Amino acid sequence: MNDLFMHQLRDLYGAEQQLLKAMPKMLAKTTANELQQAFTKHMEETQNQVKRLEQVFQTLGVKAEAEKCKAMEGLLNEAEEFMSHNADDAVMDAGLIACAQRVEHYEIAGYGTACTYAKFLGHTEALNLLQETLSEEKKTDENLSYIAENSINIKAEHH
Ligand SMILES: [Fe+2]
Repeated sequence: MNDLFMHQLRDLYGAEQQLLKAMPKMLAKTTANELQQAFTKHMEETQNQVKRLEQVFQTLGVKAEAEKCKAMEGLLNEAEEFMSHNADDAVMDAGLIACAQRVEHYEIAGYGTACTYAKFLGHTEALNLLQETLSEEKKTDENLSYIAENSINIKAEHH
């Protein structure tokens, strides 16, 4: 069980770093102000989440090591492919939200599992840190849904 927990953490650590690298390009493709703000905010949060995972490793007394996350790689490849197409601004924004929400849902699943394991194994400090990130990911997801439903999808509808 402890090995499984470590594996989850390394996978998340890899995933966050991969995402962090891809985020500036996604941000550059956005047009709507509110989406730019949301992406910028989450980029800062993601930097923090990487550091928070390092803290988690530290509280567990293990070296912070990343594993390449193939699922995140796949999600980011899809985003990359989508961004290579020509699309109207609003359609591009809508598609970027779709890509970003897939990423958030993946992370929510990963952090959810990591929280469950941390709780099960009695790693309270790690649990608190992981829960903090989990709630940030959930808020990001909700915020993206809100932006999509209240503005971007409406603009994209006419294209
Ligand atoms: Fe994250």
